[in-house]
Order: sequence, then C-alpha cells, then structure tokens
Amino acid sequence: MPMKPDLLLGQTLGFASDPFLTPVVEAAKHVRRGAVLIENGKVAEVGEADILRKAHPEANITDYGDALITAGFVDAHVHYPQTAIIASWGKQLIDWLNMYTFPEEIRFADPAVAAEISESYFDLALANGTTSMCSFCTIHPASVDAFFTEAQARGMRVAGGKTCMDRNAPEALRDTAKSAYDDSRALLEKWHGVARLTYAITPRFSPTSTPAQLEAMGALWSEHPDCLMQTHLSEQIPEIEWVRELFPEARDYLDTYERYGLIGKGALFGHAIHLTDREKDRLLESGSSLVHCPTSNTFIGSGLFDMEGLKSDGQIVGLATDTGGGSSFSMLRTMAAAYEVGQLRGAALHPAQLYWLATQGSAQAMGMGDKIGNLASGMEADLVVLDLASTPAIAQRERRANSFWESLFPTIMMGDDRAIREVWVGGQKV
Ligand code: GUN
Ligand code: ZN
Repeated sequence: MPMKPDLLLGQTLGFASDPFLTPVVEAAKHVRRGAVLIENGKVAEVGEADILRKAHPEANITDYGDALITAGFVDAHVHYPQTAIIASWGKQLIDWLNMYTFPEEIRFADPAVAAEISESYFDLALANGTTSMCSFCTIHPASVDAFFTEAQARGMRVAGGKTCMDRNAPEALRDTAKSAYDDSRALLEKWHGVARLTYAITPRFSPTSTPAQLEAMGALWSEHPDCLMQTHLSEQIPEIEWVRELFPEARDYLDTYERYGLIGKGALFGHAIHLTDREKDRLLESGSSLVHCPTSNTFIGSGLFDMEGLKSDGQIVGLATDTGGGSSFSMLRTMAAAYEVGQLRGAALHPAQLYWLATQGSAQAMGMGDKIGNLASGMEADLVVLDLASTPAIAQRERRANSFWESLFPTIMMGDDRAIREVWVGGQKV
C-alpha cells in the first residue's frame, strides 16, 4: 500500500535563484496561502493551497495557518563536541581552544560521553529548526560513530568527520599522520554514503597538523574525491601570524592547504575573514566554499566577514553557528548576527539573502544544493515551520508589517527556538 501523501498548508518560501545575484523579487518565491505536498520523503509539489487541495483530495492535511513553511536550516560548520562548553567566557581563539575546547574534547575518549553529547546536540539542533549540518567531531573515531549513529537514527542528511591533529594540542588529543589517515579512511569506508551521511575529511587547522599530516589528508581526499573536506582558515590575526611562523615556505594561510591538495570543490573553509587577494582568487578558481560564522566571529573576537564583497566576486558562501565558538544553536540568531556584521561593514543584507544563506547557501557550500536547503519540488522533505509571532515583542512588531519581508525580519532578528513550530525530516514530522 503506498503511503498517503502529506499536504502542509501555510505561507511558503522557496528560492528560484540566489538573491545575491538576482533581484529578490525574481529569486524568492513566497506564497501567502501556499501548500507543500510531501510524498515518499520528498517535496512533490509547492503551490497555492486551493489548487493543491483540489488536486490531492487523498492527502493528509496539516494546516499551519499563517506560519511559514520553508526548507530546514543548514548549519555548514559546527563542532558538536563543543555543545556543553558553549558560552565560555573571556578568551580569544588560541587561549579559548587551550582553556575550554581541548579539555572538553579529551572527554570524548569515552564513547559514552560522545553518545550523550551527540544526542543532546541533535536535540538542540532540531529544536532550532536545523535539519542538516557539517560537523567536526574529535580525534576519537568513536566520536564520529556517535555523531553518525545519532543522525542516522533521526533520518538526517549530515556531514562530519574525525578531527585530525598531530601537533600543538595536548598529548591526549594528538594522532599521527599515519593514524589520522588510517582512522579517517576506516570511518569514511564505514559511513560515507550510508543512508543520508557524508564523510568530511577534517584536518582541524594548519597549526595543529604537520605538513606530513596535511599531505596524508590530501592523499586521502584525492582517493575519495566525493567526500567533503573541512577545516578553518584565517579566523584571527594572531592565528595567521602563527601559521606564517609554522609554514615559512607557504605564500599565505590558504597555501598551507593548497600545497597538499586540500582546496577545491567540496572543501569548506570556516571563517575566512582576513583573506589576501591571492587567497580570494584561488578560493574562487578552485570552487572551494567559504563559511561565515558570525556569532563566533564576534564572540571570540575574530573579525568581520566581507559577505557583500565575497558574494559579488562569485564565491560559494554558507552560514554557520560554529558552536561552541559560536554563541547560539539557532540559525535565526546566526542570521541576525550576519545582518549585524553586514551593517558594521556598511552592507544591509536583505532578509531574503539571510534566509537563502541559512538554507540554500549552506547546502551549496556542502555540495548538496540539489537535495536540501530549498522548498521546491524534487527536494528532500526537510522542513521547518516558523511561527512569525512567537514572542510578544516579535508579535507586536509583526502586526505593523506592511510586507512579507517586514513580517519575517523581526523573527530573523529576535527569534529563537520558540519560533520553531514544527520540523520535518525526510518527510516525517519530528
Ligand atoms: N580553529 C581551530 N579549531 C577551532 C575551533 O574549534 N573553533 C573555532 N572557532 N576555530 C578553530
Ligand atoms: Zn570551527
């Protein structure tokens, strides 16, 4: 017996194109009284409620009233093992890693810790409407097993990988070039392509990998080019100076990856704030992705990502929480921070651009833009339903709105998990 399709009613928002590159009126598709037909885990149709209701009298109807149905949020750079140390006070990047992050990541030597934090992380992500993410794990293979096991149980499309470090980290968090290669390869063979899971080869960042380890990671990626590769790039000035000392032969920070085959399509570079012209050129030419982490960049004191400049150059850009460096699990809060960072650089990002970044932008950065991150027929049915009047402060502002964008913007700026009315993953209500 085929399953009855689901028909969700509400406002709908999807994108026909990138609102940074085409005018918002062409790029964004908003339907005031819309409907989404879900069949076999996918979005079969998006359209007017009246029309789809008549065409599909057999469907199970869920009427969300004035709530907004969109693609679920996609967080393109997160550290699930840092869930419990989010909002740790008073340090900038290198000290923050040494004082808070590394001691917490050492705890993941215990698979029970990894399982517990992974469960807690996925609960928080889904409560915030995040249906896909690309996560760092720890150096421990069991931390990767815990992440993928939890994601698979929840039917989610996610990417992640073992974080590799063979220097400048505590002994308990160091692998070697060879063990990083062997363990990453074994994990990749175990998980990549299983259900909705994607493996991301994960050297943490150049300061914690020797050239030999970066070379091994590059070799592994060239043997498995359909995997992703994720790392950090040019987040903080002292970090960049340190990279210069550690790699005196490199032309710049990006070159410490480039010379080992770690740039290109499927490479995700978190932060990418303080870039030289050569780095920007190579990122663009190679088809690498940049990931903007605005709550982290302000919280850790890293700097102001040049969204307008990089997008107008044609770079592939995603948006991310970077928790626990970031200060929130919410992609709504992250959009708000992206707006604020834009303002500090003199560019007011349109709500359509913010929303696109948090969904399709991140999905494209992860090479999954044809599967997730948009409300359109043929996409996988990972959806979020937003209450656009979720708190008294938001509701009173929303009542004064004169357009759809004006009614959405207060939720982008002031919304949190209370705005998440419902989440669907793979065509199932969570
Ligand atoms: N650079 C290297 N590791 C990390 C990390 O865990 N968080 C952030 N924000 N930057 C990093
Ligand atoms: Zn990070």
